[in-house]
Amino acid sequence: MNKAKKAIKAIFEIMKHPYLLNTIIEDESFKKRQFEKEFPHISHFKEIPFEYFLQEEEITIQPFAFLGGSSLATDLGLLQLLCKQNSVENYLEIGTWRGESIANVAPFISKGYTLNLSDEELSKLGLESDYIKMHRFFSKPIKNVTHLYGHSQKFDFESLHTKFDLIFIDGDHHTEAVYKDTIRLFDFRQNNKSIIVWHDAKSDPETPRYEVLLGIYRAIPKHLHEHIYLVGNSLCAVYLTNKPNWVKAKINKTPKKYFEVCIKQKSLEN
Ligand SMILES: C[S@@+](CC[C@H](N)C(=O)[O-])C[C@H]1O[C@@H](n2cnc3c(N)ncnc32)[C@H](O)[C@@H]1O
Repeated sequence: MNKAKKAIKAIFEIMKHPYLLNTIIEDESFKKRQFEKEFPHISHFKEIPFEYFLQEEEITIQPFAFLGGSSLATDLGLLQLLCKQNSVENYLEIGTWRGESIANVAPFISKGYTLNLSDEELSKLGLESDYIKMHRFFSKPIKNVTHLYGHSQKFDFESLHTKFDLIFIDGDHHTEAVYKDTIRLFDFRQNNKSIIVWHDAKSDPETPRYEVLLGIYRAIPKHLHEHIYLVGNSLCAVYLTNKPNWVKAKINKTPKKYFEVCIKQKSLEN
């Protein structure tokens, strides 16, 4: 089909189903162009190599379900390392899901809070009961974890009477939601050294995800953009003020190192 025929067909389809317009404005290439227009001072993303955090450490990722929606092992490792290396006391996350991320950091923090839409809210969204049932699966029994229920844009964080050393934003990944979560939670940092981690700021460990990055850069004041970094080998972006080593993010890198991953099955009965 030639371009003119395609355009006419597309216009007819959009007239019949206006929701199709969303597929254009939510498209990554559209978001990328929007990002470049709004943030011309960001000519490249700065990326902190994963080994900057890992150094000589050997870390164990557990629990790790290896199921749909799991973060990467390196994402969970990054959270553990940041908590350990920065003596994180109070940790807050948006997006509990199976409770894997909070369960991974729980041994390295004093107190963790994790917020998710309640089962009723998930049910009203028409989500499957098996999916809803899996929420908090790993984190429910953990003593230093408090489960919070509600919508991140409405939840009264003041009611917790605490500020946070590390905030992990992993709820709704649409640009507007990331923007609103970030702008709200920026004020709940304990101090200027407090860390923010955003999940899914890349669609794979090398490819920036503009849908999420647009929300992040819109929410963080322009004079603080220098503190936003992608993290190598992960899907995360971080807000870090301690001037870490970084390189220019690029795709199709030749690996200069590799990781060794040991897989061990653990029984849930014991
Ligand atoms: C990607 S999952 C979180 C994964 C989890 N952090 C982990 O790594 O193990 C995202 C979760 O956020 C929840 N969610 C989505 N939008 C939300 C919102 N606005 N407020 C609270 N929770 C939300 C969803 O129900 C889902 O369980």
